[in-house]
Amino acid sequence: MLFYSISTTIKSIKAMIYFNNVSKDYNLELTREIKRALENINLEIKKNEFVVLCGKTGSGKTTIMKLISGEEKPSFGEVKVGGLSVKNLKQNQIRNLRQKIGFVFQDFKLLPYKTVFENIAFALEANNFKDDFIQKQVLNTLKVVNLEDKLDALPSELSGGEKQRVAIARALIRNPEIILADEPTGNLDPYNTRDIIKLLLKINLNNSTVILSTHNKDVVNSIQKRVITLEQGKILRDEKQGRYVI
Ligand SMILES: Nc1ncnc2c1ncn2[C@@H]1O[C@H](COP(=O)(O)OP(=O)(O)OP(=O)(O)O)[C@@H](O)[C@H]1O
Ligand SMILES: [Mg+2]
Repeated sequence: MLFYSISTTIKSIKAMIYFNNVSKDYNLELTREIKRALENINLEIKKNEFVVLCGKTGSGKTTIMKLISGEEKPSFGEVKVGGLSVKNLKQNQIRNLRQKIGFVFQDFKLLPYKTVFENIAFALEANNFKDDFIQKQVLNTLKVVNLEDKLDALPSELSGGEKQRVAIARALIRNPEIILADEPTGNLDPYNTRDIIKLLLKINLNNSTVILSTHNKDVVNSIQKRVITLEQGKILRDEKQGRYVI
């Protein structure tokens, strides 16, 4: 028994992301009701793992991501990221945590009047880096996403797939330890979807933990990675090389 508890503790320390009996309630302001979005979630995600979160709309995928980024706090239980409990973090610690996380969203969230270069550089400017450094970092990151030739384009001049690659470059620019990609292919055709998933897999090989939420059955089935299936806020399945079964 002692051995068991020591080994689980060590395993937990090694986990990059750790949910222990986590439930999340949202207070609905209008009706004053409480909506339980997640119930009793237990989860460990190791450094450099690639995890797919799937589940119907409203099953809790985005809420899991928001708990990881510190945007939301658990109502019950504990969420740890990099060994630190998210609940007790001070404002500056939450800022530090966010620096380690790159976000990619379904609707890209690019700044419409800024060029590709400016959209990516924007993520670095708050750190007061020198211009030379920013220039070099942006160019290197654009190479990773294969968009060096679109440096001066505005988002409106890009295809959906290209926009998402800019958003991924923006997420990568600070060398994040974790990438949270929330339905990144939701607005893309099958060709661009494949392209973006390939890119996320490549990023994962480059030492980032990637968490991808998706509704896309073909993505889940082709990717051959760990799949966590949520249903009404609970984990229905957690499989090493899962398939889409909802
Ligand atoms: N800020 C909020 N206030 C109240 N309820 C919320 C809030 N955010 C999410 N919810 C509720 O919590 C549940 C889980 O939502 P969540 O956004 O995590 O689901 P999801 O799996 O990401 O869904 P989708 O596939 O549509 O993006 C849903 O029932 C949703 O209505
Ligand atoms: Mg969502």
